[in-house]
Amino acid sequence: MADKPSRRVYVFDTTLRDGEQSPGASMNLTEKLEVARALERLGVDIIEAGFPITSPDDFEAVRAISREVRRPTVCGLARCVPKDIDRAAEAVRDARHPRIHVFLATSKIHREFKLHKARQEILRLAVEAVERAKAAADDVEFSPEDAARTEPEFLSRVVEAVIDAGATTVNIPDTVGWASPDGFRWLIEHLFESVPNIRKTVIAIHCHDDLGMAVANTLAAVQAGARQVEVTINGIGERAGNAALEEVVMALNTRPDAFGGCWTNIRTPLLHTTSRLVERVTGMVVARNKAVVGENAFAHESGVHADGVLKERTTYEIMDPKSVGLARSRLVLGKHSGRHQFKQHLKEMGFRLSDAQVTRLFFGPFKELADRKKEVFDEDIVALVESEASAGPETWRLCRLTVATATGGMPTATVELENLATGECRRDAASGDGPVDAIFKALERMTGVALTLTEYHIRAVTQGTEAQGEARLEVRYRDRTVSTRGVSTDVLEASARAYLSAINRILVRRNAVSAARQKKRRRRQPQRGKVTG
Ligand code: KIV
Ligand code: ZN
Repeated sequence: MADKPSRRVYVFDTTLRDGEQSPGASMNLTEKLEVARALERLGVDIIEAGFPITSPDDFEAVRAISREVRRPTVCGLARCVPKDIDRAAEAVRDARHPRIHVFLATSKIHREFKLHKARQEILRLAVEAVERAKAAADDVEFSPEDAARTEPEFLSRVVEAVIDAGATTVNIPDTVGWASPDGFRWLIEHLFESVPNIRKTVIAIHCHDDLGMAVANTLAAVQAGARQVEVTINGIGERAGNAALEEVVMALNTRPDAFGGCWTNIRTPLLHTTSRLVERVTGMVVARNKAVVGENAFAHESGVHADGVLKERTTYEIMDPKSVGLARSRLVLGKHSGRHQFKQHLKEMGFRLSDAQVTRLFFGPFKELADRKKEVFDEDIVALVESEASAGPETWRLCRLTVATATGGMPTATVELENLATGECRRDAASGDGPVDAIFKALERMTGVALTLTEYHIRAVTQGTEAQGEARLEVRYRDRTVSTRGVSTDVLEASARAYLSAINRILVRRNAVSAARQKKRRRRQPQRGKVTG
């Protein structure tokens, strides 16, 4: 059994890498920076900011986050391929604490069918990759992908070899969510027993949730001596997701007796806001019954339970809602509030906005909302700030929307848009099967972008009939999936805003791609007048 010199468990957050890989969860640069800042506030130790070789956007995001956050380590992922490693090294170069994370599959099934490589070659590639990464950064993590299905004695050899090559963290991933808690505990203990140099490194774990056991497997590995947990906010990630940060952290906090008193540096009162931020920017809705951060996590409906909680909270609540940031603050701001008060309030809520952003938000969406609603709650403010952050660069702005519906008649939407690049205003109307369909048809015709709607949800951000409505949707455009949201006191307007935001994102992307193509074409054209040999 591993000795445990320290009870501190490092939190490695991969929301921006493994989380962002989940279909429909892609974030733009502004959103990624917003999430990275929230993770820094939350107290995570390592932020895995992306996989730089995969796209210029990913590279830019890792680089921007490396320059922005100061306290956490910033990590970039790379395959065991020289060009990947060099790109990751370049992306994290400006971080105060940079880390390069290299991975290579080690299981028989991956070796034979995916990589077509023998064990010896895998060992060689892993060692060479760690050595190359080590030349660029002191802090190097190695992951034997699909470790949970790797033959244990081969896994031990790989782990020993990469530690000798300089890996400062060795992560044991259950890539396909195949492990069980007992099996995973055994595997980690086995590594501690069979790898002679294991104490020179930090052993990490990274579990996927295909069988709903990611958190249980993570905690079992912690019991066996793992000192870094690789997690995501709300458990988002490939397929069924990764172990949820909030669940692992609250399990360690709430049950020190079960998990040997292990602790993390997470500021748990920020869990709820961080969860909501990730929910909003990714468009991946948190289930009501989700542990720790779901809407029902501290709600008591049954008479017996409610009565018990009123008499003594701990009868039915094992965690204090305040400890995860769920104490709801009532009325905070209204139409008579001033800009200074608004700015101060944003600061208290943990938002870091520039003066220009505060002014734009205050005189625009906040004033509009305060006019429509008597009471403006913290949830409303969060929704406003985040819809501002997730809106991304705009080409088209919604100026006016009129919708006419009548029983038995066909709904019609009249839309006015302004092109922010050219100043052109357009007005058009369309009818559809329902009011939302009519709005979407009008927007498509006016912008020339036709999308396939794959998901559409509306919900109230706060309570009451004058609550803000939030529309979230997922659309497909060619092979790209985009998730967006829109907020308004009118759900039809919220839907229009969400759809237009998706169109704007597609247009930004389309313009960037065509600019890159033109540049390439220009480069390929022979330069006139140039003398060649
Ligand atoms: O699940 C996995 O194996 C991964 C690795 C890259 C660590 O995400
Ligand atoms: Zn993973």
